[in-house]
Amino acid sequence: MGSSRQYQERCSNKCYTDCRSDFKGRSDFVINIGLIGFGTVGVGVYNTFMERKDYLEMLLQNELNIKKILVKNIDKERNVKVNRELLTSNEDDFFSDNDIEIIIEVTPGASDAYRYAKKALLGNKHFITSNKALVSAYYEELSTLFEEKNLKFLYEASVGGAIPIVREMKEQIKLNEVTNIRAILNGTTNFILTNIYEKNISFYEALKTAQELGYAEQNPSDDIDGLDSMRKIRILSTLGFGTSIVEDDVLVNGIGNVSSYDIDTLKKRGFKVKLIASAIVSNGRYQVSVFPTAINSKDIFYNIDYRKNIISFTGDKVGELSFIGEGAGMYETANSVLSDLIEVISNKDFTSPLRARGLENSISNYKGNFYVRISNEKIDIPKEFIRDIVSEDNPFVFTTHEIKNFELIEYLKKIRQNDYSIIKIDK
Ligand SMILES: NC(=O)c1ccc[n+]([C@@H]2O[C@H](COP(=O)([O-])OP(=O)(O)OC[C@H]3O[C@@H](n4cnc5c(N)ncnc54)[C@H](OP(=O)(O)O)[C@@H]3O)[C@@H](O)[C@H]2O)c1
Repeated sequence: MGSSRQYQERCSNKCYTDCRSDFKGRSDFVINIGLIGFGTVGVGVYNTFMERKDYLEMLLQNELNIKKILVKNIDKERNVKVNRELLTSNEDDFFSDNDIEIIIEVTPGASDAYRYAKKALLGNKHFITSNKALVSAYYEELSTLFEEKNLKFLYEASVGGAIPIVREMKEQIKLNEVTNIRAILNGTTNFILTNIYEKNISFYEALKTAQELGYAEQNPSDDIDGLDSMRKIRILSTLGFGTSIVEDDVLVNGIGNVSSYDIDTLKKRGFKVKLIASAIVSNGRYQVSVFPTAINSKDIFYNIDYRKNIISFTGDKVGELSFIGEGAGMYETANSVLSDLIEVISNKDFTSPLRARGLENSISNYKGNFYVRISNEKIDIPKEFIRDIVSEDNPFVFTTHEIKNFELIEYLKKIRQNDYSIIKIDK
């Protein structure tokens, strides 16, 4: 079974072709995989797996087999070439198959996926997931439980889609203290912000275009409200900083209030607006945030447009590393999922990313220079906050000196949420 079996045990002489003829057709050299979810990512995983199966088998010196696929609706029309007998919607049937040693879970939402992860544990099965809602909600618990049973819990695709950031971060924390992570982690909001900037269209037109192209969900609130970025930076910062940073520790501001007026006003001053997730450690304290941020052309994030993602992090030895790529997509995400599969089978080192670095949250002191727009209301803002008045009338627009975010919010709380926007200005 998964916890005890050493994969690749026959391949020490590296004679791929000869070894290959040895393991083919031998039941003790078949690794059975169970796939949960057969939508965009699931089909991408399945198709890539089938396309690369021969090569993967040669590389990993085992026969590989997707034995069952658990879906929600067994009767659904599916535009994919697959033996329908692999599909089941019967959870018990799926989990009672003791031949399955590795689970690949690619469904949305945390609650069913959490049950699946616990069942995988109970059955001594490794668990690979692309589900950021699951990883973000249960990261510490699942990492610990799987490690205790000497099983792998891998989640490369849950952050940054195609970008191999989790593996790289795990590698770098062996030698480095990570002090800073900065990223654009959500392709949908980046697409919307770029489209407004380039085409001078309204937020709602840009959102509609994103939905028509299939880049945004019909209910896009997880993206727009910054929750998707929050989950990803929560996972990355916990991993990178070696301290448990849960969802509630993150200051989250989405782009729902950012208007085309804001983007155009900042464009005239040389800025683009991006939804930036950031995590910083200083003097034993951390601040993790998701904030619409105005950046200038000297910033390497400036040209990360449309659906592209970027992740930069700084280690005390390695300096700053940056990764750019597709944050989503059928085959891009499947690629990350399958790289986890290779890691499970090739049995690489997997020490726990959880360390007790003992950092303290200081998000209540989060400071910055901000752009603020207030429409349809008149309120008094302390003069010492204001650096520059951009527009005096309706809307009232100003930039601030470096101030604490929560002190600014205290004043803005008096007005309706839809009537103001705050954008951080990065120097
Ligand atoms: N799409 C991307 O580019 C991307 C990128 C990175 C990460 N992710 C993450 O990957 C996961 C899958 O995304 P997706 O885009 O592939 O979603 P999707 O296209 O909506 O597909 C979801 C699949 O999960 C199945 N499913 C839903 N609830 C289930 C349940 N309770 N039990 C068993 N199966 C269930 C569905 O079954 P039916 O087919 O029967 O409806 C469907 O096959 C999500 O967590 C997402 O956040 C996606």
